Amino acid sequence: MNKYIEIKEIIKPFNKNIEVTADKSISIRSVLLASQAIGKSRIYNLLQSEDVINSLNTIKKLGINFKRYKKFYEINGFGLNGYNTNKKITINAGNSGTLGRLILGLLVNSKNQIQLIGDESLSKRDFIRITKPLQKFGVNIITKKNCLPVKITGSEFLRPIKYSEKLGSAQCKSSVMLAAIKTPGKTIIKAKKSRDHTELLFKYLKIPIRIFKKKNHDIIEIIGPSNFKGFEYKIPGDISSSSFFIVLTLLARDSKIRIRNVNVNNSRTGIIKILNKMNAKITLRNKKSYRGELLADIIVYSKNNLKGINCPEYLNSSAIDEFLVIFLVAARAKGTSTFRNLSELNKKESPRLDLATKFLEMIGVRYKRWKDNIKIYGNPKLNLNEKYTVGNFRKDHRIFMMSCIAALSFGGRWRIEDKDSVNTSFPEFIKLLKKLGGKIN
Ligand code: S3P
Repeated sequence: MNKYIEIKEIIKPFNKNIEVTADKSISIRSVLLASQAIGKSRIYNLLQSEDVINSLNTIKKLGINFKRYKKFYEINGFGLNGYNTNKKITINAGNSGTLGRLILGLLVNSKNQIQLIGDESLSKRDFIRITKPLQKFGVNIITKKNCLPVKITGSEFLRPIKYSEKLGSAQCKSSVMLAAIKTPGKTIIKAKKSRDHTELLFKYLKIPIRIFKKKNHDIIEIIGPSNFKGFEYKIPGDISSSSFFIVLTLLARDSKIRIRNVNVNNSRTGIIKILNKMNAKITLRNKKSYRGELLADIIVYSKNNLKGINCPEYLNSSAIDEFLVIFLVAARAKGTSTFRNLSELNKKESPRLDLATKFLEMIGVRYKRWKDNIKIYGNPKLNLNEKYTVGNFRKDHRIFMMSCIAALSFGGRWRIEDKDSVNTSFPEFIKLLKKLGGKIN
């Protein structure tokens, strides 16, 4: 089987309505929360990707049964003490930082030692950011040189903590929030702004939580222990998956797309705010709220007068998974674009800021890189004619998808390796590109 794809043609004008697959962050959170609820939960439209399947396998290993029906997954939880942790076991988070970090929060009351492992990419990522705060709850947790494998032995005598989250990491914030629901007393988190799906789910599940929103951070107070009942949730489309189609449409000729029913929670829409500052005019229709989340259709038209941006840093966290494609827009915009303090981008499934820099170099886009900042010198006439090979990117799904968008937008003859990487977050990606008319072999 070919593990690579080839693209040799720019995409032709298109006008389409599409739906992207379900939000990965909410899919993983809903599986984990359902596994700790009392009774049955039903999750509709759960994302069928490797990160989510690993989440299901993880709860199964911890003794929680689930059943797949045609339209939903049913997960049968036994409450906050419902995991079977009597034996020493190993769980595998695969490629998923979200699963790896969040599940540790739920293991703070494990009876025996649980070992967490992951794939090659996850094994290179930092876990000390989460083992440090979890330790303060009174659990025994050790890393191997700050990375996986992590070994955690929970405690019967958890104590609430005060924790300041300074990276803008929703994974760290959420992991501590999950530990807090198992811990008697009030846990107080001061968190730099980041996606707030966990907070919204807690509110919907009536878990005692109070949130005080400040300009640059939130204060979150959680009182535990707090059991909650099984629930129903229908997962909306993922804006991170949509971002590839947003940018493809923007850079294509005379095209239009409507992406239906996407989660456009304010903490996730950095890409829309950034691209609109670059002259994109992306609009939202059919807005509705669902379980505290905001959903809408995203409408995008092609644009040929895009302009550079001096990207405000406060948008970094709400666009963190989308910077790779935002850089493509900057490469085609008139003028320079500057993005600052993107150290977190190098902490993802691959060092994305470094790899994006190499990518821009490969396609001949001028840039200046210093520390965690990058300035991109845009060229509205950017068109490529040469041969390009993309490989060696730690099988990072988002680098693969960004490369496909570059190939379909800028031209050239491309060979892009590790096509299976899309299974991490967006298995339908290539099928959808073909639906828009993309020629992919
Ligand atoms: C995620 C949070 C982000 C994001 C990741 C998913 C989440 O990571 O990059 O893809 O679901 O909480 P950080 O929280 O580490 O920034």
